[in-house]
Amino acid sequence: MSNQNTAPLSLEIPPAEKSILVLSGKGGVGKSTVAANLAISLSLQGYATGLLDTDFHGPSIPKLLGMEGTRLTSSDGKKLNPAELGSLKVISVDFMLGSRTDPVIWRGPMKMNVIKQLFEDVNWGKLDYMIVDCPPGTGDEPLSVSQLIPEPTGAVIVTTPQELSLSDVRRSIQFCRALKLPVLGVIENMSGFVCPHCGERTELFGSGGGEKMASEMEVPFLGRIPIEPEIVSSGDSGKPFVDHNRKSQFAKDFENIVTNIKEGAKEGAGPNI
Ligand SMILES: Nc1ncnc2c1ncn2[C@@H]1O[C@H](COP(=O)(O)OP(=O)(O)O)[C@@H](O)[C@H]1O
Ligand SMILES: [Mg+2]
Repeated sequence: MSNQNTAPLSLEIPPAEKSILVLSGKGGVGKSTVAANLAISLSLQGYATGLLDTDFHGPSIPKLLGMEGTRLTSSDGKKLNPAELGSLKVISVDFMLGSRTDPVIWRGPMKMNVIKQLFEDVNWGKLDYMIVDCPPGTGDEPLSVSQLIPEPTGAVIVTTPQELSLSDVRRSIQFCRALKLPVLGVIENMSGFVCPHCGERTELFGSGGGEKMASEMEVPFLGRIPIEPEIVSSGDSGKPFVDHNRKSQFAKDFENIVTNIKEGAKEGAGPNI
């Protein structure tokens, strides 16, 4: 057993050329949706991409991608093969847990060890991008991931227009600053509703707060994504939305966001850390 008080040893080899954490202060703002669609978009663009779901208490990537119940195999008895969706490689803590209804009690150091194994004991191969979906808040999982990965590329922070989640975002940004994790930017999700028939935009919960806050906090604003009624059914049926409905406003807005993330990741640590 490792000493629980020692700082974690970082991975010897970075898991990918670029590693991006998807964070939010609050649950239910669309973090997993963003992580899944970002990973799918990058893999559709031809990048070797991995998606790692580190949400121990509510892993939702398998459901979003229709991969529930996946049990991993090993070719050499040592390393696990990730699940695959096209060329995207996917690992979720859910694949490691037994019955989904089992309550799981994990303490911080145990989570850290499991996360380390998810990087080291999986045949990820050579990746251009590793997208890490984190649970809400600033707990053990994002802390472990950002300490384990040598020089992570940065974090994408997801919010909704409501003030409550914006104040949570400020906390996420402070967290990144404390860890010297570059903030690639903020995404405002569920920002308005675009009528699928006439294209008119209605601001149901207000909009623009994410952009204003990003500018106040001097981090990039990556873009906003409207409420997309179909995303719920596509998530439930395991069809990632960007692939399933490429002509939607969501897919178009998302494409710009992916471009902005790639640009930010290229530049590396900006002045915002
Ligand atoms: N832009 C959107 N439009 C409509 N529903 C959305 C949108 N983004 C996310 N959702 C839905 O909101 C719920 C929470 O999203 P999820 O990505 O699981 O959030 P988180 O990971 O932050 O907890 C899911 O049911 C998802 O399908
Ligand atoms: Mg989630």
